[in-house]
Amino acid sequence: MGAYFDQNATTPLDERVRAAMLPWLGERWGNAASAHRFGQAAREAVEAAREEVARLIGAGSPAEIVFTGSGTEANNAVVYAALARAGGRGRVVLSGLEHPSVPGPLATPWGAGVEGVRVDPEPSGVVAAERFAAALEPGAAVAALMLASNEVGTIQPVATVAAACRERGVPLLCDAVQAAGKIPVSVQILGADYVTIGAHKFHGPLGAAALWVRPGAPFAPLLVGGAQERRFRASTVNVAAVVGFGAACRLAREELAERALRLAALRDRFEAGLATTAPGAVVHGAGAPRLPHTSSVAFPGVVQQELMIRLDLEGYAVSIGSACASGRVDPSPALLRMGIPDELALGTIRVSFGLTNRAEEVDAFLPILGRAVASLRAAGSAAGVR
Ligand SMILES: Cc1ncc(COP(=O)(O)O)c(C=O)c1O
Repeated sequence: MGAYFDQNATTPLDERVRAAMLPWLGERWGNAASAHRFGQAAREAVEAAREEVARLIGAGSPAEIVFTGSGTEANNAVVYAALARAGGRGRVVLSGLEHPSVPGPLATPWGAGVEGVRVDPEPSGVVAAERFAAALEPGAAVAALMLASNEVGTIQPVATVAAACRERGVPLLCDAVQAAGKIPVSVQILGADYVTIGAHKFHGPLGAAALWVRPGAPFAPLLVGGAQERRFRASTVNVAAVVGFGAACRLAREELAERALRLAALRDRFEAGLATTAPGAVVHGAGAPRLPHTSSVAFPGVVQQELMIRLDLEGYAVSIGSACASGRVDPSPALLRMGIPDELALGTIRVSFGLTNRAEEVDAFLPILGRAVASLRAAGSAAGVR
């Protein structure tokens, strides 16, 4: 049978989103910055999409939305702008769960002289708001706390941290890329200064993401040249992708509650089935508030790469969220930062569900997973890895 259970990496395009995009990949075209009728039509389509993005995240006005090419670009833009303000001094405070696109700029020449202060999550998979607040002193150029972890799915105390940031005058970036379209996201409730979301994580197209910027928050564009996106992001707008993004946002908003229930039912079915099919499995972050579609599970005595490959051979796609450098197996930093022992982190896979998955797929997957785990354990999979 086989199934795609790596929906946190990317999701298949919703056919309704595809239908909305198709005219802009064929009989319709235009540069949204052009004054003639072709440009006007493209601009209208882009502005309608902007309105949908704004509605999904409760922005005060569509003008607060900046379209970008990816979540990475949106996160990079905020951090690079902060580094420019820092001028080679001071600190940036980040949670230990952030996607690499958030700390990434610190490791470039633009980050030289700026201290990156990392606040690791508790063993629950949730960052302690008071520890994060304490790290903001003595003044930071920017802070970053994601809304939900892409690896474990745990939901973070963004509103509490945002209040602490506001008191200290530190702008806060909230990466909501994995949360948008899955759980309610309101920029007003979050209280952050920047929020990023991306279409391809909730059945929209690749190539369209958004950065919400609170009016008056400090910002400097990453891309300069034209006057597009109110000079927040130069480039000719990717009309087809943005139109698809708008459609994906509208559908997510209309169907959010029903989707969350469906996804949580798949995840719960999977996790409940583990007890009998793969005894000893440990679900990370199980006691914390979590996204409905993400399951991060450790199988003691198993090496994640070997398990992933076995499952791939059976047609099941899962993720391992780690890198394998120079023949050495490296467990996921996010898991280690939660205090999960090396051996468990090394045996962890991420199973993530989407709207294309069905209960029958979960039922067919469980015995295959169980057999793969048992046979790898019997073969001494994890023996001598470290
Ligand atoms: C939490 C989070 N932030 C940012 C990104 C990067 O988004 P993109 O793939 O659009 O660059 C991802 C993608 O995996 C993610 O999961």
